[in-house]
Amino acid sequence: MKMQITEKLEWGKYARPSENKQSAIHNWFVYHHSFGKTLVSEILNELKLDRKARVLDPFCGSGTTLLVCQHKGIECVGMDLMPLSILVSRAKTNHYSVVNLRNTFKKIESSLDRIDSYPKPDISIINKAFTQKAWDQIQSIREVVETRSCGKVRDFFLTGLLGVVSSFGAYSNDGGFPRLVRRPKVPLKDLQLTFMNRVNKMTNEVELCNSLHQYDGGRVPIIITHDARNTLNKLGRFDAIVTSPPYPNRHDYTRVYTAELAAAFLKNNEELKKLRARLFRSHIEAKPDDTVSLIDEIRPFIKILRALRESPKADDRVPGMLRAYYQDMEKTLSAIWKLLKPNAVAAIVVGNVRFSGVMVPVDEITALIGRNIGFISQGILVIRYRGNSPQQMRDFGKITSRESIVMLRKGA
Ligand SMILES: C[S@@+](CC[C@H](N)C(=O)[O-])C[C@H]1O[C@@H](n2cnc3c(N)ncnc32)[C@H](O)[C@@H]1O
Repeated sequence: MKMQITEKLEWGKYARPSENKQSAIHNWFVYHHSFGKTLVSEILNELKLDRKARVLDPFCGSGTTLLVCQHKGIECVGMDLMPLSILVSRAKTNHYSVVNLRNTFKKIESSLDRIDSYPKPDISIINKAFTQKAWDQIQSIREVVETRSCGKVRDFFLTGLLGVVSSFGAYSNDGGFPRLVRRPKVPLKDLQLTFMNRVNKMTNEVELCNSLHQYDGGRVPIIITHDARNTLNKLGRFDAIVTSPPYPNRHDYTRVYTAELAAAFLKNNEELKKLRARLFRSHIEAKPDDTVSLIDEIRPFIKILRALRESPKADDRVPGMLRAYYQDMEKTLSAIWKLLKPNAVAAIVVGNVRFSGVMVPVDEITALIGRNIGFISQGILVIRYRGNSPQQMRDFGKITSRESIVMLRKGA
């Protein structure tokens, strides 16, 4: 059966998180890989979900789906495996008393003079990009936040700190991978001020949202550390899923956010590697397992593997990474199938990728796996065409790749 592919290019500008950077609360911490809040809003409208609906985002990242649902009064549950995602998603969706935030701010501010010494963890980018003085200052602020606040207020201030950490390391994350640069974006002498300005701005945004009654009806979502590949019965069933799993584009979240992870959650490189190994296998070190998987029977995928193996320029780790990626996709789709109510729809935002001139239609293969699991494909909505990298363009010519929403419905 042929896959129905329709363009919805008017949503393309919301595929990336630029609008979130300008939006109250969303801007507290934006992932490079987040989708825009309007994309979520449009999907929820398209699915005609009302306030009685329950929505799940099993890869909640920095919480875009959760926050949009909350503002629409829709109950939402989020999962993720990165502690950073859990922290910032919770911080963005909690309800706060502004008086409490301002009082805590005063307590934190009055304790900031003392700077202790903290050994840097044995993590390469931290050692190369952060001076010892910068690390000491970041850790001293973290310590004050941890001791002067607790619960959701602590999450709020910690999110404020992690939102500024990358500005004090001599590296850039613009390309999706940390790259060393000559000097940090902001001089170290401004660290405390930058932190205080940030949490002040965050508090003002809470005050504004409270006064606009933006939280009215919007319950605080349940957000849990959970592997989307495993089912979880205690959460009940959902009317829809709006999510975006990692793309198989070699990007590795634990590398992109090493500084934030090391600043607040991980002690050493060993813990970082363990976290990396637990995440969805979308990056180049990922290896497939021995289990027999649906992906091994999907013909377009077999052709892609052959083309990659025959391409003289292909990195020979890519076929293994792609198999591992689809093994994970199969597990995820099986898990979410069980979590959906009859007739419920999963809207899954994915990006196609191209390796050594070989196009991998991630959207179509995801839809095919979904069908084999028992979903009814509702078609693929193409929201954007992305250009290829200058190097790929030089070697293989200009070919765009789709960024799409795979719509899968569970039968009645
Ligand atoms: C593309 S990002 C999601 C971004 C999100 N839509 C947003 O707007 O911020 C993918 C997320 O999946 C998470 N992740 C990776 N592997 C996971 C797994 N096995 N289970 C749950 N979450 C996972 C990553 O930590 C990351 O936060």
